[in-house]
Amino acid sequence: MTLQNVYARDYQTLNGSWNYIIDPFDMGYYDYRLKENPNGFFKNQKAKHKADLVEYNFDTAPLMLIPSDWNTKNSQLFFYEGSVWFKKDFNYSPQPGKKTFAYFGAVNYDAKVYLNGEKLGEHIGGFTPFSFDITGKVKDGSNFIVVRVNNERHPEGVPTVNADWWNYGGITREVLLVDVPELFINDYLIQLEKGKYDNITGKINLSQPVAGKTVVLEIPELKIKQTLSTDASGAVSFSIKAKPELWSPENPKLYEITLASGEEKIKDKIGFRQVETVGKEVRLNGKKIFLKGISIHEEAPFRQGRAWSPDDAKILLGWAKELGCNFVRLAHYPHNEYMVREAEKLGLMVWSEIPVYWTIHWDNPATYANAQKQLNDMINRDKNRCNIVIWSVANETPHSEARDLFLANLAKFAREKDNTRLISMAMEVTGTRNNTSKVEDYMSQYVDIISFNNYLGWYGGRVEDAKTRQWEIPYDKPFFVSEFGAGALQGKHGDKGEIWTEEYQAELYKQTLAMYNRVEGFAGTSPWILVDFYSPRRQLNGIQDFFNRKGLISNNGVKKQAFFVLQDFYKTK
Ligand code: GCU
Repeated sequence: MTLQNVYARDYQTLNGSWNYIIDPFDMGYYDYRLKENPNGFFKNQKAKHKADLVEYNFDTAPLMLIPSDWNTKNSQLFFYEGSVWFKKDFNYSPQPGKKTFAYFGAVNYDAKVYLNGEKLGEHIGGFTPFSFDITGKVKDGSNFIVVRVNNERHPEGVPTVNADWWNYGGITREVLLVDVPELFINDYLIQLEKGKYDNITGKINLSQPVAGKTVVLEIPELKIKQTLSTDASGAVSFSIKAKPELWSPENPKLYEITLASGEEKIKDKIGFRQVETVGKEVRLNGKKIFLKGISIHEEAPFRQGRAWSPDDAKILLGWAKELGCNFVRLAHYPHNEYMVREAEKLGLMVWSEIPVYWTIHWDNPATYANAQKQLNDMINRDKNRCNIVIWSVANETPHSEARDLFLANLAKFAREKDNTRLISMAMEVTGTRNNTSKVEDYMSQYVDIISFNNYLGWYGGRVEDAKTRQWEIPYDKPFFVSEFGAGALQGKHGDKGEIWTEEYQAELYKQTLAMYNRVEGFAGTSPWILVDFYSPRRQLNGIQDFFNRKGLISNNGVKKQAFFVLQDFYKTK
């Protein structure tokens, strides 16, 4: 079940205190012969008699405020990779004639979910939503839900075992109990017809294949009220003449829409725009646009840990707006829905990405299925967000035939699912000879924008090389620099030749921006990165202390000199 626009439904959150039990040897799941234990922790057993042996007790276990990663909530769990069990008691009154779903915004990485001691199901993948139908299973009165979360990395996982971000484990986004009518609007898509400015098209899907059901679509500000009737599959497509005011960074216009069917009425806010590439130009609403971007990890400002809330989104995106951005690269995985919706309201275009990152197991069919499912679920959740202009299928992946096939299939899948947005991925520079850097990639035929990461002056070369460096990007497509940057410890000062100083980072930004600005087809950039973030790969004590220091802002929210270099550059665009 998709449950499109879950926040528009009738829901109650299970946010708040959950009991948790740390389970490093999966005692709560397996017996001592490593067989699944039918009476695992999910039974939430209690010792009833004085001789009862029950070696766990949720009621006396510590509490954790959910949503949250566990790493920043309990110092014993900062580095922990393994299983943690969570339990929440809740009261419920199932409504007659209604269905109830348990919805999870995200759980990293492997979630096994149980209700009142019975397994609901399992989900793999740390950054996309999932739900279980609990109709008839949720009781009238008191219930308990148990989730076993395991954040261990797996070579065949997506991402794999190697990544430059903290492996935050936990129920990292909201848990909702959602009531919908027996027959409900499960999914919908509402957008401008590709390439047109005077026609709104889309599709509405009911949750069951029933024909002849009435669905009413209203866009009051456009004086649209369409009464539609579903086909045998329970769906209805529409095409409506209308010339909406276009969404843009300068004017992030959103229209209130309502969808009604039976007793259900859903509201959403939809923006209308066109995005395309023509030759080496990216065009928004038919006009060339420069993507003034910045990369952002889903890390909470100030407190660290996983960002998940509207407030987290407002702070991070507020900094991006202050920078002068019209674009954000939400790296390296789908961010929470609040982040995308807040960006839409603020007029920030979005690059949304699945964590097909570095050394993925390209020849493993299960790995591909995992990646495709995450891509599918990312597009499903956000396909009505007009500010998402790029779906990205990978980041910095090593060349091989298996990788080419894997990524080509992902790119084709994304385009089949949604041909109204641009497809890209973060490639790498394939080589530098005679002071000319070249970007050549088999995947260039599948993407609309040639995007690549390059750290001239940081991972190789000197900052001053940027003054003379030439570029060869042999495609009649725009190019976008999805990453460049340098580390700086905020408050460390020295001359611009001294690494880790703010001056070094600022000079690298100045020279790098000037370099790309000289190259034809430069369509934008999302430098790495808005804020310093935790990474297990950054051990230099006194400077990194497990932080990647490429932020333009420190993890304490203090802007570094390079912030203002980029801000000044964007003023010229
Ligand atoms: C890579 C990668 C980032 C990483 C960055 C760095 O380009 O895409 O995830 O954090 O470089 O090394 O800082």
